[in-house]
Amino acid sequence: MKLPVFITLTLASVLPLCAKQAPAELTSPDGRNRITFSLDRQGRPSYEVVRDRSALISRSALGFTANGGLDLAGKYRLDSISFDSRDEYWTQPWGENKHMREHYNEMAVNLSNASTRLTVRFRAFDDGIGFRYEYSTAAADSIFVTDELTEFNFATDGTSWSIPANADTYELLYRGQPLSAIDNANTPMTFKTDSGIYGSIHEAALYDFPEMTLTHTSGPRFKATLTPWPDGIMARTGSSFRTSWRTIQTGDKAVDLINSGLILNLNPPCRLESTDWIEPMKYIGIWWGMHTGIQSWVMGDRHGATTENAKKYIDFAAANGIRGVLFEGWNEGWQNWGGSQVFDYVRAFDDFDIREVTDYAREHGVTVIGHHETGANMPFYESTMDEAYSWYHDLGINNVKTGYAGGVPGGHSHHGQYGVRHYQKVLELAASKHMTINAHEPIKDTGIRRTWPNMMSREGARGMEWNAWSEGNPPSHHVTLPFTRLLVGPMDYTPGTFDILLENTKTHPDFKAWNGNPSIPSRVNTTLAKQLADWVILYSPVQMASDLIEHYDGHPAFQFFRDFDADCDWSRAIDGEPGEFVVIVRRADDTFFLGAATDESARTVAVGLDFLEPYRAYKAVIYADAPDADWKTNPTAYTITEKVVTASDSFDIRMAAGGGQAITFKKIK
Ligand code: NOJ
Ligand code: CA
Repeated sequence: MKLPVFITLTLASVLPLCAKQAPAELTSPDGRNRITFSLDRQGRPSYEVVRDRSALISRSALGFTANGGLDLAGKYRLDSISFDSRDEYWTQPWGENKHMREHYNEMAVNLSNASTRLTVRFRAFDDGIGFRYEYSTAAADSIFVTDELTEFNFATDGTSWSIPANADTYELLYRGQPLSAIDNANTPMTFKTDSGIYGSIHEAALYDFPEMTLTHTSGPRFKATLTPWPDGIMARTGSSFRTSWRTIQTGDKAVDLINSGLILNLNPPCRLESTDWIEPMKYIGIWWGMHTGIQSWVMGDRHGATTENAKKYIDFAAANGIRGVLFEGWNEGWQNWGGSQVFDYVRAFDDFDIREVTDYAREHGVTVIGHHETGANMPFYESTMDEAYSWYHDLGINNVKTGYAGGVPGGHSHHGQYGVRHYQKVLELAASKHMTINAHEPIKDTGIRRTWPNMMSREGARGMEWNAWSEGNPPSHHVTLPFTRLLVGPMDYTPGTFDILLENTKTHPDFKAWNGNPSIPSRVNTTLAKQLADWVILYSPVQMASDLIEHYDGHPAFQFFRDFDADCDWSRAIDGEPGEFVVIVRRADDTFFLGAATDESARTVAVGLDFLEPYRAYKAVIYADAPDADWKTNPTAYTITEKVVTASDSFDIRMAAGGGQAITFKKIK
């Protein structure tokens, strides 16, 4: 059903203004989010945001600075303002929710000064706001942007969850701290204001421009900061440029942010002619052995990706209904990792017969996931990737995990304009060959999967690997990610390590500490039941069971992964608070999967089952922490129980400290 759209206008639909710079307003369809645009006497643009009657963002500057006498921030006069609105339904080939509603009101403020024209385009949704800059100049062929002036001046202080700004990595621990105590932050930067508004600042549809981070100015106030080129210029553009959307998600509850479609709705529709070749899947891989130090990426006695091991993984995948198998360390060049960072993407190591492996996989109904570690040598990768992707394609390898561990040559950074362009080139090349990408050490997600749905997943936060060779990810990490990193797109966290204390690998005769400090007591900082829950909570359309396959032997809990479907149709975050706990349910066809997880504190959360289809009976298979489980002292104790339930039932979900619970609900025919 299409609902009527109302625009609250304080001005006529297209209005020229000059002398008295009356503020222009835009409200969301539900009337709760209101943006006000103004120009001051010096022609400097600014905006404010109010939610209900509470000021969220008080007057905050808009604009940029540039070289060459171009004024991108002041002496503007208002030429006109135009309004628009949209209320449409759209579908995505895969995603947390296949059916989406795009419902917003828009205000385009058209400005000009002696050197430039600027449209500031605002969109107000019920679940947040976005605005972007559209600049053009007749005074120059190119624009060298030197700074972004956009401010996010919170009207009140509040709590926040973020990682520090960094031009090269997002693999950092989250900090929960007052807004006013943040030095700088990467986005998404999630907050709860003292007036009770939940929200998150990020950007949507980032193309050919550096990423935006936030720098503290004073009190709870921030200014946008761009990641520069090596010479200090922030962005190099032609005579016109359009930024990504600067976004502020809003909600009454923390889980409203997870259930929001704002980021995807601010991205343009799909550009691919067909998408039937894009396949969400579960996967396993030759991977964890290298991180835990019992196997190597390079060829030698401890080499992981041998033809023989590959076949074992393929057999396991085929026997357990798992579609994908990843092999890392399959190609020549791993000897150069941490050195020249030059890899050969068309030559397998001698003990990995790639044709034999891909043929064997095909015969067993399994697909091989390719791997390109680039060591962040983007220039070299670009020089060889045409051939590399064609070669994979000819072998029938159509899903590629990429990796960018290391520094980018030439002083470039992962998150600058050079990096943003690079990741996009790879994605478009892959799309042209009907291949998908799962990028590690990526540029952050800004929802471009709507336009390029072959962009399946990314890392872009501390994933499972950190548990192998560092102090690991604390129990609060997995219940912070859904309210921060995961707000903006899927994450290839790779949950599913059952050897929680790494006992089997640390005592393995081939064990060699290879990264981090061997005296750090590495382990997985959760219970085993929470590992199952993370498969549901940490959404990825390509979802990995990350442990060595032998570690699933004798574990009835692995049945949860066998039953799990990475290709869900619908999702809902039911309850949670950032850094404390979360409960998320997803539906794939007729089956529901629920994941609940907690931080260091044990807790019980009451959950109504009203998401189930009414008047139908379901068999619930409940994978819970055992009564004496505890992430520190007894992490692997779990119970599996079954119950027949209907939508009118409710569950008390009991979780041990650092624990969780996973439930499969299968419809009884
Ligand atoms: C870092 C990635 O996150 C990890 O998954 C991969 O195994 C290593 N780089 C090596 O490519
Ligand atoms: Ca990584």
